[in-house]
Order: sequence, then C-alpha cells, then structure tokens
Amino acid sequence: MARATSRADALGESSRLSEAEIAVHWREEELYAPPAEFVAQANLTDPQVMERFSLAHFPECFREFGELLSWDRKWTTTFDSSRAPFYRWFVGGKLNACYNCLDRNLEQYRNKAALVFVGEPEEEPPVSITYQELFVRVNELAALLRDEVGLQAGDRVTVHLPMVPELPITMLACARLGVVHSVVFGGFSGESAGRRAADSGSRVLVSMDGYYRNGKFLDHRPAADLAVATAKSEGQTIDTVLLWQRHPGKYLSSAKLVEGRDRLVNDLLKKYRGRRVDPVSLPAEAPLFIMYTSGTTGRPKGCQHAVGGYLAYVTATAKWIQDIHPTDVYWCTADIGWITGHSYIVYGPLALAATSVLYEGVPTYPDAGRLWRIAERLGVNIFHTAPTAIRQLRRLGPDEPKKYDLRFKTMTTVGEPIEPEAWLWFYHTVGKGRAVVTDTWWQTETGGVLCSTKPGIDRMKPGSTGPPLPGIFPAIMDENGREVPAGSNRAGNLVIRNPWPGLMSTIWGDAERYKSTYFSKYNKRPNSKDWRDWPYFAGDGAMQAADGYYRVLGRVDDVINVAGHRLGTKEIESACLTVPEVAEAAVVPIADELKGRVPELYVTLRPGVTVSAEIERKVVHAVETEIGKIARPKAVHFVADMPKTRSGKIMRRVLAAISNTMEVGDVTTLANPDVVEAIRVQVQGKGKVATQAAPEDIAKFGERD
Ligand code: WT7
Repeated sequence: MARATSRADALGESSRLSEAEIAVHWREEELYAPPAEFVAQANLTDPQVMERFSLAHFPECFREFGELLSWDRKWTTTFDSSRAPFYRWFVGGKLNACYNCLDRNLEQYRNKAALVFVGEPEEEPPVSITYQELFVRVNELAALLRDEVGLQAGDRVTVHLPMVPELPITMLACARLGVVHSVVFGGFSGESAGRRAADSGSRVLVSMDGYYRNGKFLDHRPAADLAVATAKSEGQTIDTVLLWQRHPGKYLSSAKLVEGRDRLVNDLLKKYRGRRVDPVSLPAEAPLFIMYTSGTTGRPKGCQHAVGGYLAYVTATAKWIQDIHPTDVYWCTADIGWITGHSYIVYGPLALAATSVLYEGVPTYPDAGRLWRIAERLGVNIFHTAPTAIRQLRRLGPDEPKKYDLRFKTMTTVGEPIEPEAWLWFYHTVGKGRAVVTDTWWQTETGGVLCSTKPGIDRMKPGSTGPPLPGIFPAIMDENGREVPAGSNRAGNLVIRNPWPGLMSTIWGDAERYKSTYFSKYNKRPNSKDWRDWPYFAGDGAMQAADGYYRVLGRVDDVINVAGHRLGTKEIESACLTVPEVAEAAVVPIADELKGRVPELYVTLRPGVTVSAEIERKVVHAVETEIGKIARPKAVHFVADMPKTRSGKIMRRVLAAISNTMEVGDVTTLANPDVVEAIRVQVQGKGKVATQAAPEDIAKFGERD
C-alpha cells in the first residue's frame, strides 16, 4: 500500500518546459490488479481487443458497437466523413432508441426490474418498475405526447424534472416518437431552463409540482413559470406545460395552474390507459437528444447526439467499462440531468437489460450512511459516482462503509480527476479491496467514456484515468500544434485524433461554433474532408506516462502561471489532501506584481477538526514538498464550505473573484449560493470592497467554456 517514491525533482524538470506546457509534479502511484473473481465473469477480457480496434481497423472496428443494437434496417456505410468535421455513423441504418431499451428486452426480462426508484424520505420503500411496466408507462405517455400535445419526430421538448422515474419515462417516450428531448438539470433555475428552451425551440416544457431534497419538499412548479417567461423574452413561446405530480393524484405546489397552458399528466394519462405506440424508425444520424454543457457563462452549447452512434457507443462502453450484465444491479449516483445520467443511468444500462437504480435525494441525507444503506438493501454490485461525492462521504463518515455489507464488483468515478488519497479510500474502504475501480474521462460532447482502464484487463493507477478505450487515439499537443512525445510525462493539451460514434453531431443551431470550439485549434487544412486533419480539442490539460496511462490535469483554462511555470490546479489540490485533516481544497490564482500569478488556497477540514496554525503549516509544507516552493500559497483560507455547482464541481471562478476583489458574478445557479457571501466577508472583511478590473486570465479562470 506504500506509495512509490516520487519522480525526478519536480522543479528541475518544469524549468525545462516551454511556456505553453503545464509543469508536472505528480509522483508515480502503485498499480492495483483486478481480482481474479472479477476477471472470471468480466465482459471484456480479450487482450487482443486493442489490436482489433487499432488504427489500421478504423473505422470498421466500430461495427462491433453497432452490432450490439437491434436495427430496423442495417447500415450500409459505417462512417462518413464527407462533411468533416461533421461526421455520420452507421449511415443508411434505421432504428429506435426506446425499442432498444425496452421492447427488445421484454421477451427475456419482462418481469425483471428495469428501474428501482429510491425516494429521499427513508420511510418510503423503494419502488421497482419492471421492463414490462416501464414499457406500458412509456407507451401511454408517448400516446399522450403524440395525440394530446401533437408532438412528432424532430420536435424538441424541454424536460425540467428531478430524479424520479417520470424523468426516464419522459425521455423514453420522446425517444419512441423521435421527439428530441432536452433535459435540463432539475436543480437549475427556471431562467436556465427557459434560456435552453428558447435555444432549442421547445414549445413544450415537462415539469413537476415538487420533490424531496435534503429533508424538505421543494416547490418546483414556480420554476416552470420563470422558464416560460424567460423563453418568451427570448422569443420562444411555450404553449404547453406538462406537470407530473410527485405523489400522483395530489398537486402539492402553492402555485396555481395556468388555464390552457398547464396540464396534469396523471389526469390526462387516464385517457391513454393501455395504449401502445409503434416506435418511430429513425435514420441513425437523427438527433436523439440535446444536452447543454455545464458552462456557467456564455451562451450554453447544445450538444446534439445522434440515435445510432450515441446509443451504440454508450451500450458498448457500459458493457465493457462498467461491466454491466443483465443480472447486475447497477447504481450511478449522478443526476439524469447530466450527460452521465443520460448515458449511464438510462440509455446504456437499459439497452443492456440491467436493473438501474434511481435515487432522488442528496447522498448525505439523513446521514453519511444513506448511500451505503441503499446499496446494501438493493444488493447493488456496480457503483458509479463522482470524486466530489467520494470526498464528501469520506469527510463525513470515513468509517461508515465498514458497517455495511457492500459487495461491489466495479466502481466508476467520473467528472474530474480524483486525488490519489480519495481514490485509495474509495478502493479500500468502499470497495473493500475487492472491487475494480475505473476512472472514466469523457465529456458531454463525447457521449461516452474515452479513457479508462478496462476493468478485466488493465491494472488500476490511482489518479490516472488510464489508457484510451479501444478505437480511441488521443495525443498530447503543445500550443503550436506539435505533438508532445508519447509517454514522456510531459503535459499539454489533450486531443483525440480520430472521430468515434459517440461524438456529438454538432452544436444545436450553431454548426460554426461546433467547428471553432472543438476543431479549429489544430486544423491546418480547413477544407479537408479527411478526419486526420481534424483533431478534437478537448480543452483539458493532460500528460501521458511511459506506461501509456493518461493523467488529466484539469481544464486548460484552470492553469495558474507562476513566474512562467504553468501549474495544474488539481495537483496542488491533491497535495493538500495528503494532510489527513483536510477534506477539500481549491486553488485560485491571485495577481502578484513580481510573479504574475501566485496560488491562494481554500481548504475545508474534516468534521471535528479545528483550524490551527499547525494545520496551515502542514498544508503549506505539503504543497512545497509535493510540488515545490514555486507553488507556495500566498494565503490559506479555512472555510466552512466550498461554493459548488449543482453537479458538485467547486466553483474556483467564484473563489478567484473573491481573492482578487472582483465581482463574483451570477451565483444563483450554485448548489449553495449562501456560502459565497460568508467566504467574501471572511476573506475581504465586512463592507463592500472596491472592485477592480479583472486581468483576462483571472476573469476567465475556472470557466468551462
Ligand atoms: C470535463 C467534462 C463526463 C461526464 C461528467 C462531466 C472533467 C470528467 C474526468 C476524469 C479527469 C475529468 C474534464 C472534462 N472530467 N471526467 N475521470 N478525470 N477529469 O461532464 O460536465 O461535460 O465535463 O470534466 O475536465 O473536460 P462535463
């Protein structure tokens, strides 16, 4: 379990790097082999897979993914790049995503649970919905959407729902009709939903009266009014609001229904009892859904995903990386309102006939044991979560998992790099050293996982996402478009050299932005139709170790340049987490006359630990020894809580603004907007502080765009 010794002196190495590169100071971690019992039952154990998916076999290798689906008409051309970088996969093929997730599973799995819904109130027993029952409900809703609301293939619908079964039911009903769903995370404001509805041109909004979160019943209905008003102000009329009820038959919102606009779905459904709707057969490249990226400023980008390529890609990756079999009980704690939930709660698992668990509430309600009780009760054997949840659970209940009979065979993390300290806790305490951990790197834009260890084949390395998936060919490039030597441990921009079936088709309504954001940076021949001329720019900094494993350092906008040394935020934060008292750390740049930028730290401590000069000294010491004196923080702020997005990402942008006495900007979409003012007062003192103009890099620091 001991850590391997550190690599060559960090600073000596970084001083040889060009300006454009990020200095790398990670130390190598020990490798962990998958247990034999896991390998014995794994879906993917053939080491030849990388050869089968080698560049020489691109793009036809991806036929294997397409063949996991049921097609109404088989494709004729696997890959078409005649309009590069706008690609089409499985051209000539026709299929329906809802059919692939439901109808085709009925014969064998009719009475097996498709979804298990766990409401947040713990006294509400879990509700199992079988494949048959889900099929019935989706058909009834599809009939309603078509015959009552007049929706047809190609129309867009904005869905603003919490984590309840009605959310996947709505998505699948849309998919059955070829209606393009645009799910907006339930925790987002009505204004955010309205802006996205306007962008996608939705005339229908699906919402709910309310839901449970952190022990309270939240009135969600007012958000629908705001969404309609916001869409209207942007020129889009929403004529129909379909409202589900958290407790069918009872309308629990304080807001009155709007005559002629609001319809209670549960009332309308009575007319459609037992109705069946034929799945609409769609061309493979037809849009299945739009998912807006988690950008907090700028116009949101609607990533448009295609039925055929997307579904094939998430089905194959869920099978190989999460190792889903129909007999598994699979639980991903993400929200379906993010791409992770679309790909790996709904479409991938259901296409594989798994049982997928849906939990309404927060992971720590009513206490830090809640997730482990759910997992034990339902017999979950595949567990999928995010580093932010892992850190939070470790902070609040480090010994809690030991009290439960957890039997995970695979555990996946996604969303940001995981600090080795957090990884080791996850592996040893949650997985009990018996589960394979996969650290999956991907993005809303990419549809599914691009880098991860293959659980039945590769060894795991804490803090590294691992090798690319079969058929994916990444490279690290410098700012000038030169490839950084493979396996050289040198950082740069992560690109993917080839297209893959899960890659979005375009940005909804803005093809130019698709091209300029992701492909222009490294394209040298703008008129080329050869995919080799269009490397995909992911916007992440990364390095590749000699063993081929990638380590993601964070968004390239999140780099801190200290006297010419580009420091990745994640490694500084990781260094802080080697101090046992530290629960979470965030680093931001502050302007410094001498060095350009210097890091400033925000730290939360584990419960029961009190702030002391001793801990501060330990934190500074950890940064100096793990990274170097160059990264020495100007100040360490011990805060009670971090400002976070609803998806759990720490908003470094907000902390950077506070540190640099700038306006914090819009914080209404945060999970906990109140902590912002508390931190501001703590750092700047009471009273309004004069704002200063923001240097460009600091103003943009921490943005996803
Ligand atoms: C960004 C994408 C992918 C679904 C959830 C987030 C970061 C994601 C990892 C990982 C290091 C990761 C990247 C990426 N990221 N997974 N395993 N290791 N970084 O989707 O909101 O589109 O965010 O999340 O920076 O670009 P998203």
